Amino acid sequence: MNNSILACHDVAKTYNDGVANVDVLKEVNLTVNAAEMVAIVGTSGSGKSTLLHLLGGLDHPTQGQIILNGKDLHALPEVEKCYLRNHYLGFIYQFHHLLPEFSALENVGMPLLIRGELPSKIREKASHLLDQVGLSHRLHHRLGQLSGGERQRVAIARALVSDPLCVLADEPTGNLDPHNAERVLKLFFDLQKACKTSVVMVTHDPNIARQAQRTMKIEQGRLVPL
Ligand SMILES: Nc1ncnc2c1ncn2[C@@H]1O[C@H](COP(=O)(O)OP(=O)(O)O)[C@@H](O)[C@H]1O
Ligand SMILES: [Mg+2]
Repeated sequence: MNNSILACHDVAKTYNDGVANVDVLKEVNLTVNAAEMVAIVGTSGSGKSTLLHLLGGLDHPTQGQIILNGKDLHALPEVEKCYLRNHYLGFIYQFHHLLPEFSALENVGMPLLIRGELPSKIREKASHLLDQVGLSHRLHHRLGQLSGGERQRVAIARALVSDPLCVLADEPTGNLDPHNAERVLKLFFDLQKACKTSVVMVTHDPNIARQAQRTMKIEQGRLVPL
């Protein structure tokens, strides 16, 4: 029995833009172990976001398998895939993908609401996570009223609120100035260690990637150790 949380085996992805086939990923193999942070670097357009979408079950590989907690993600019916996504994964995006008209508390509680948890439990967990990211004084602010750094901290809280096995982070600080990026990253790394969550973090910044336990690079559609 190994402690692999998320793995991909010989994954390939080809897009067709209507004119030609674009082979973005070819034979990508990756195993993410429990509580491990893996960083993936690559130039713009190299397929980083594509790989995260495949790992998160948001898009289908052209070939190969994604194994999440022992299950072949893309072989499952959509409803079961959504269940696994909600229970085992957290997502952080560059442009946060939070709901601007909802409060910080409501945004963070959303994954638990989808899961059908009781409102009292949702409030309790969401405020605990917001406290952990240093935003206990912003619970009822609407997202639109928060700064960029604060929004990314809300996004981190939302990704961790459901105690996921693995967080998939796509350029989580790519939209912040260097000072804010560093603060938000430190917080993210500290929380990841405390929660013992696995993370796959995509970034174009080698200085950020170096802080992970393991760094890989996408090069000509293949994942190679850096
Ligand atoms: N839905 C799509 N249809 C066609 N081509 C796409 C699609 N999504 C991404 N691509 C192409 O795949 C390549 C990789 O994109 P992406 O994974 O977003 O790169 P990265 O995140 O590393 O910048 C790019 O050349 C992009 O134009
Ligand atoms: Mg991208």
